[in-house]
Amino acid sequence: MDQILQELKQSALAELETISDPESLEALRVAYLGRKGRLTLLIRSIKELPVEDRPRMGKATNQLKIELQKRFDGILSSLQSRDAERKAKEEAIDVTLPGISFLRGRKHPVAATLDEIIEVFSGLGFKLESGPEIETEYYNFDALNMPSDHPARDMQDTLYLKGGSLLRTHTSPVQIRTMEKTQPPLRMICAGKAFRADTADASHSPMFHQLEGLMVDRRVTLADLKGILTEFAHQIFGRNTRLRFRPSFFPFTEPSAEVDISCVVCGGEGCPLCSRRGWLEILGAGMVDPEVFKAVGYDPEKYTGFAFGMGIERIAMLKYGINDIRLFYENDLRFLHQF
Ligand code: PHE
Repeated sequence: MDQILQELKQSALAELETISDPESLEALRVAYLGRKGRLTLLIRSIKELPVEDRPRMGKATNQLKIELQKRFDGILSSLQSRDAERKAKEEAIDVTLPGISFLRGRKHPVAATLDEIIEVFSGLGFKLESGPEIETEYYNFDALNMPSDHPARDMQDTLYLKGGSLLRTHTSPVQIRTMEKTQPPLRMICAGKAFRADTADASHSPMFHQLEGLMVDRRVTLADLKGILTEFAHQIFGRNTRLRFRPSFFPFTEPSAEVDISCVVCGGEGCPLCSRRGWLEILGAGMVDPEVFKAVGYDPEKYTGFAFGMGIERIAMLKYGINDIRLFYENDLRFLHQF
């Protein structure tokens, strides 16, 4: 039996040498130390030995059992730590690698300009209103003193939809919608898309944005219009900006004016931007035509008012020095990132 014990020890140690993973280690442990393991069976057979041999064999087998157990435990823990090390290496985070950078969104220059203009007029007591982009002929034209045979309609051709509605050619219909639901005194602005049958070039686009303003009260005069627009121009283009009103025509205002500001580049001396004129046109305006008041049921004897409308892209182009309106709509990040 001594010899069997020796052999068992040799083979166990030899097999342990070849172990490289926890699973085969466990299989080996069961083969020797499990309930039917070789060593377990050997220990059990001691009771069949002659009585005088039993203590010595009991001691020897027990020692081997303890030794093997120790070896198994030792190998198991070294296998486990090797495993953990490998895992740590695989999952390691290299904090020196460049990270993934996220592009931060920002406002489109047209939106940013619009927000700035709204801010100015809010400060002057104008309330923000809105209206639909798909309008009726009545709101877009008739109520604004532009009956269907009026030549002014030619300049504002647009897409007509089935059922007689159309893509609004300006934000002025929101004047009518607001007056229909409000009694004077009234100060409103509104902004949004407008559409015209224009071929796109550096300064035209078939879709663009407008900002509209309207003030109605007793004794509102052209002086109020000038004061409000001057304050607007000063806040948007700087306090040195001068304003010029040129007589013009709109069916819904009388008198009407085109409003210019002194050139943002040369200050009025004349340069390529202002075609050497020193002035830049920025909006249309005028005193509300009595016919418009009649259309919404306001008494033109009692109330007067002014209205103005400007292209937001135009303002943005002057503010940021952009020379082609089409850049706004191309979604070219190289352009948009500059604002
Ligand atoms: N609606 C006019 C246009 O689009 C601008 C305007 C608005 C003029 C209000 C006068 C008063 O051309």
